[in-house]
Amino acid sequence: MKIIMLGAPGAGKGTQAKMIAEKFSVPHISTGDIFRANIKNQTELGMEAKKYMDEGKLVPDELTVKILLDRVAKEDCANGYVLDGFPRTIPQAEVLNDALTKMNDAIDYAIDVDVPDENIVKRMSGRRACVTCGATYHIVHVPPKTENICDKCGSELILRDDDKPETVLNRLKIYHEQTQPLIDYYTEKGVLKTVDGTKDMNDVFADIVAILQ
Ligand code: AP5
Ligand code: MG
Repeated sequence: MKIIMLGAPGAGKGTQAKMIAEKFSVPHISTGDIFRANIKNQTELGMEAKKYMDEGKLVPDELTVKILLDRVAKEDCANGYVLDGFPRTIPQAEVLNDALTKMNDAIDYAIDVDVPDENIVKRMSGRRACVTCGATYHIVHVPPKTENICDKCGSELILRDDDKPETVLNRLKIYHEQTQPLIDYYTEKGVLKTVDGTKDMNDVFADIVAILQ
């Protein structure tokens, strides 16, 4: 089962991808999480990616594609995976398509989590992320048991640097220019499914499970 999560920044791709990965026992692969882990460890890749991420821009395809192809070649991906935040441009989608075609394989579902822009900025200002394990919370919708402390590992929760309102608006603009065309791309391939991402997250998940089963 090879699944792609599409949707605007903050639509709930990560939230849903984690739930899918757990239910269907496949790895959850987020290029954003990979970049953030590299930034935290101050790797060369992390330092390069940070320049783009802090401005809400996309990391160049050359850097992103290689990381993703290396990751999906790992053994744990043999039975499938959920890609969260990749592809984000038509060239990225084509590289992935070519790599899969060479193995006589293809993406099974591209799930578009649809949320209007008006809802996004509000959602992002309430998101909190764990500095250590990457778990995400929302101060209203998914609050941690203790304010600002991660339930899973006890570390501090922070507002992501790129979740500040002015950066979110830039990410949305870039989403519409560069990522939204993927909706047509995967519609043409016959694998696009759209879910209403404004519903409660458990209801969104039920809609996705209905599609996958
Ligand atoms: P990335 O980390 O992928 O960020 P993003 O696409 O902007 O998406 P987010 O992680 O912000 O949102 P999400 O859809 O996962 O929502 P979440 O589930 O957290 O990428 C970051 C940056 O890295 C990019 O800007 C770019 O620079 C770079 N990058 C990454 N991949 C790249 C690529 N392929 N090419 C080039 N550059 C790349 O939910 C958001 C909040 O809402 C949470 O607080 C959550 O609890 C809450 N929530 C979720 N669902 C619901 C619901 N149904 N109702 C109410 N609240 C909800
Ligand atoms: Mg995410």
